Amino acid sequence: MTVSANRTSADAPTARPYDPFIAAMGSVATGVTVVATDGATGRFAQTVSAMCSVSVDPRLVLVCINSRSPINEAIQANGTFTVNVLGSHHDHVADTFAGRPWPGKEPWDFTCGEWVPAPSGAPRIRDAVASFDCTIHQMVEAGTHRIYIGLVADIETHGGEPLIYSAQTYAKPLPVLPSVFDDYPGSGPTYRKNTKENAK
Ligand SMILES: Cc1cc2nc3c(=O)[nH]c(=O)nc-3n(C[C@H](O)[C@H](O)[C@H](O)COP(=O)(O)O)c2cc1C
Repeated sequence: MTVSANRTSADAPTARPYDPFIAAMGSVATGVTVVATDGATGRFAQTVSAMCSVSVDPRLVLVCINSRSPINEAIQANGTFTVNVLGSHHDHVADTFAGRPWPGKEPWDFTCGEWVPAPSGAPRIRDAVASFDCTIHQMVEAGTHRIYIGLVADIETHGGEPLIYSAQTYAKPLPVLPSVFDDYPGSGPTYRKNTKENAK
């Protein structure tokens, strides 16, 4: 993983008292998504790193959203949402939909990023690395957060380099070469594509 040289508001120090749980979670590297919904209550989108695959058949993904976020009411009213996997060129989109807009932009400003409607009507980022259009399969209250398990109705993929978030810093992926052990020459899995030979 390489760390972007450009500092963004995502690495701004927070005034929160030290919490070992939050500190340990900060050391985890995640992808970055924006969850978005649209309907009678208006358009909402929020930056969410707590996203993962749940099931292949049926196709299910989950996202965890703070119960205090206004997007909860909108997702539940609309019954649909998209999960947009951001690319490394979307750091400003991640900031904007985390309520940290760049100069000249409002928080949660849909002029940041190119938004198009997904089949469900929820907004989707046109050039997201991947975008999942979901209906609510299940909602679970879990402490401070709500877990939405989305049934995936439509998928778009555009490829590209995913944005990574770790230690309050945006980053991008860098392949790791297989470890080398002098006592076991030639050892190591053959399925790893990024060998020293391939890297030349
Ligand atoms: C990279 C990144 C990842 C985030 N991941 C989550 C998440 O998984 N779930 C969540 O509820 N909030 C997450 N947030 C925070 C929300 O985006 C943010 O709290 C929300 O937009 C409301 O902004 P506010 O806390 O300034 O009111 C994340 C923020 C950033 C910058």
